[in-house]
Amino acid sequence: DLQERRTASRTLEDLERRIGDCRRCKLWRGRTRLVFGEGSPQARLVFVGEGPGHEEDLSGRPFVGEAGRLLTRIIENGMGMKREDVYICNVVKCRPPNNRDPERDEVETCIPFLREQLEMIRPEVICILGRIAGRELLGRDFKITRDRGKWYIYMDTPVLATYHPAFILRNPARERELKGMVWKDIQEIMSRLGLEIKKNG
Ligand code: URA
Repeated sequence: DLQERRTASRTLEDLERRIGDCRRCKLWRGRTRLVFGEGSPQARLVFVGEGPGHEEDLSGRPFVGEAGRLLTRIIENGMGMKREDVYICNVVKCRPPNNRDPERDEVETCIPFLREQLEMIRPEVICILGRIAGRELLGRDFKITRDRGKWYIYMDTPVLATYHPAFILRNPARERELKGMVWKDIQEIMSRLGLEIKKNG
């Protein structure tokens, strides 16, 4: 709204300060720490997840739990990039109780801050992690099974969605299949970024 626009931040640090000890939606009541996001302000690639989980809520950092460790391996061992050279954030910045899906009012309150982050970073590619972030960024009829691995545009930026690492961890019987599809999606992103693709990640 106008009030927020007038104070629009110039840097990620300004934005984080402006978000502050946020109580704009009801998620503040259940959170330990707000998880703003982290990484390079010059990142060529931004990962967008759904929202903080338990370990993220405790540490204030995105993707540091088991799913986060898998994401870090994808970035470092798979893509050959450093985690600190990309940027990692979420659709909502506070953990929903019991990791439930974020609700409409929560997303609507928080997503303008994600948009500001993306406007400041202006990455070459956005990688959406999972169904929820896909739906919130790409629209109500986004289907992760059908629409992962396809290029879309979000805020004038090429964006591709893949399975959330937590989904792979929840489906050990499909691990090889799911990892194969994620690796295919990641190679698609690497090719878009002009990065060299090694034989197996
Ligand atoms: N899952 C997410 O979607 N985001 C995190 O930061 C951690 C786990």
